[in-house]
Amino acid sequence: MRKPVPVEDLTPLEARAEYGRLHAEIAAHDVAYHQKDAPVVSDADYDALRRRYEALEARFPDLADAASLTSRVGAAPSEKFAKVRHAVPMLSLSNLFEESEAEDFVERVRRFLGLGPLLPLAFTAEPKIDGLSCTLRYEGGALVQAATRGDGYEGEDVTANVRMIAEIPKRLAGAGWPAVMEARGEIYMRRSDFAALNARQEAAGDKLFANPRNAAAGSLRQLDPAVTAQRPLHFFAYAWGELSSPAAETQIGMIEAFRAWGLPTNEETVLCEDARGLVAHYRRIAENRARLPYDIDGVVYKVNDLALQQRLGFVSRSPRWAAAHKFPAEQAMTILRGIDIQVGRTGALTPVARLEPVTVGGVVVTNATLHNEDEVRRKDVRVGDTVVVQRAGDVIPQIVQIVADKRPADARPYEFPHICPACGSAAVRELDAKGEADAVRRCTGGLVCPAQAVERLKHFASRNAFDIEGLGDRQIEFFYEKGLVRTPADIFTLEARDAQPGALVKIRNFEGFGETSVRNLFAAIAARRAVALNRFIFALGVRHVGETNARRLARHFETFEALRATARAAQDEASEARAEIKNIEGVGDVVAEAVVDFFAEPHNETALDALLAQVTPVPMERVEASSPVAGKVVVFTGALERMTREEAKAMAERLGAKVAGSVSKKTDLVVAGPGAGSKLAKAEGFGVEVITEDEWFARVGA
Ligand code: IVH
Repeated sequence: MRKPVPVEDLTPLEARAEYGRLHAEIAAHDVAYHQKDAPVVSDADYDALRRRYEALEARFPDLADAASLTSRVGAAPSEKFAKVRHAVPMLSLSNLFEESEAEDFVERVRRFLGLGPLLPLAFTAEPKIDGLSCTLRYEGGALVQAATRGDGYEGEDVTANVRMIAEIPKRLAGAGWPAVMEARGEIYMRRSDFAALNARQEAAGDKLFANPRNAAAGSLRQLDPAVTAQRPLHFFAYAWGELSSPAAETQIGMIEAFRAWGLPTNEETVLCEDARGLVAHYRRIAENRARLPYDIDGVVYKVNDLALQQRLGFVSRSPRWAAAHKFPAEQAMTILRGIDIQVGRTGALTPVARLEPVTVGGVVVTNATLHNEDEVRRKDVRVGDTVVVQRAGDVIPQIVQIVADKRPADARPYEFPHICPACGSAAVRELDAKGEADAVRRCTGGLVCPAQAVERLKHFASRNAFDIEGLGDRQIEFFYEKGLVRTPADIFTLEARDAQPGALVKIRNFEGFGETSVRNLFAAIAARRAVALNRFIFALGVRHVGETNARRLARHFETFEALRATARAAQDEASEARAEIKNIEGVGDVVAEAVVDFFAEPHNETALDALLAQVTPVPMERVEASSPVAGKVVVFTGALERMTREEAKAMAERLGAKVAGSVSKKTDLVVAGPGAGSKLAKAEGFGVEVITEDEWFARVGA
């Protein structure tokens, strides 16, 4: 088996090409998995894609563009069910694939907490159940609401269906449960029940499920709870959301509490003292995997002490205090039936292998990525070839290699198209400074290419950007195709144009749009005429400006005018304006340059003016306005004794403060430990308030 080129060995150009390809693949898989309950790849494959994507971002930070997937969890909830906003977000886990990474994980936790090598640090290890996560809200011991994870912030209300699961108590047993208690865990189906269900489905001529997880998801997300009632679903509690009072001091204590309250918990959960113990349990579970009655896809490690979990907190979409150690990839052989070319949001042409369906690690695979033109040539992949397909993690399947001695005599080398299949424009490979061709062939059709324009509009209207209800991917595609929406500003003039007596066709007369849905859509659009500045910035799709950077810019500049004026004044690299942008904590050169370039581009300015004639960005809401340090610029200096520097920064940011590396006139607060030097002197010079570490804890109430 040939391994993919290690990320460390990729050139920036190769990395960019691969990043674009991965992005499109992962996004498509997210929709297939979360909204359609019908993934086309195994979890292992998906994970591998995601991991590679993250590795690319880590090594080439300037890749993380406007829509980076690393800050997203899952997919937006489907519109079939009422939505539930999670009181505490339902985030995801970062993945480990090698045993050595388990050691790295333990080391990272120790380092973050500043624990010396001799201090004990216990972890739990438990199977990672391959089902769908669900949160159960109990008030006064009674089950009042159940919801799916959705995008992590908002899920689907599946209360009626969850009530049909016999194993889930409608009332908690025992005593001592908090008045409000959200138990979280996995709803799953046993393998034997899955096989029996599929047999029944087949006999009835109904759709078959690809694996137990999809059967569980499909069974839970039924509009008719009576259908759910007939499906054998089970549950394991392993986490929690809101708790009105603490119920235990450790992870294992919480699991015991769940069990005492009548919630099912997993018997394979153990306590380990170090990385060796974790890996030993991982191996044990891997060996026993086939004997378990349900599917699992790895082992989850969690810091046992809840006070330490609290200190560790979260980074982006996953907790620092937990990780999922996944099982390795699986492979299978099949026949390549054809090669399709997909055009991504950035115009990249990606070859996709259409395969004779084959089951790899329990999932039927019909497509696999071929990465790019060079990859197709390097592997000499030809239509008709027998190929080895691999799924690792939840990532998109890959073609590992071809089986040369099974090649049909008439197989011809594949000719990569030089014309964009979406718009017919020329597709070219850019040359870099050294005259080397970019690995990616790109459509030159820019704004005319529907593959790109549509994706940009989808991004603009998407949940984390303008979040226009009822203007989902399908509607954007539709309006684009009808010529009604070609630019963001068009969205906001849609209603006025529709109302004109001369309008050729009224939207309500299109199939799929009734009077009410059009009225609702217009109302949803109107509701976004005032939009939080961070969302506005994110929606623009500026390269390298994902949600986090958009928030940083919004927080720093407070108004769009200030950002725009500074960005315009920042064209000169030596200007003060440029320094201001790149000195924003977490921003830096690459992002600053992308921002400057965006505002320097005349057609962007035109599109912006048109948009600003319709929309008013408003200063972003303070994340934790109630915190005494929210919105403050804080500098930590000197030796901190109760927390590491990394931890201090994470804590301040969680409380809505901005952490700066150096003291300036804009600094609000300096937290100085012993040995603080020039920063302390500078703070005193500027008359900035200086407090000790203990005073910091007292102030933030921690
Ligand atoms: S803990 C803050 N424990 O894996 C994260 N998750 O990749 C809390 N999962 O969304 C999650 N078994 O659906 C946890 N024993 C386990 C799990 C588990 C399966 C799923 C869960 C989660 C996903 C994260």
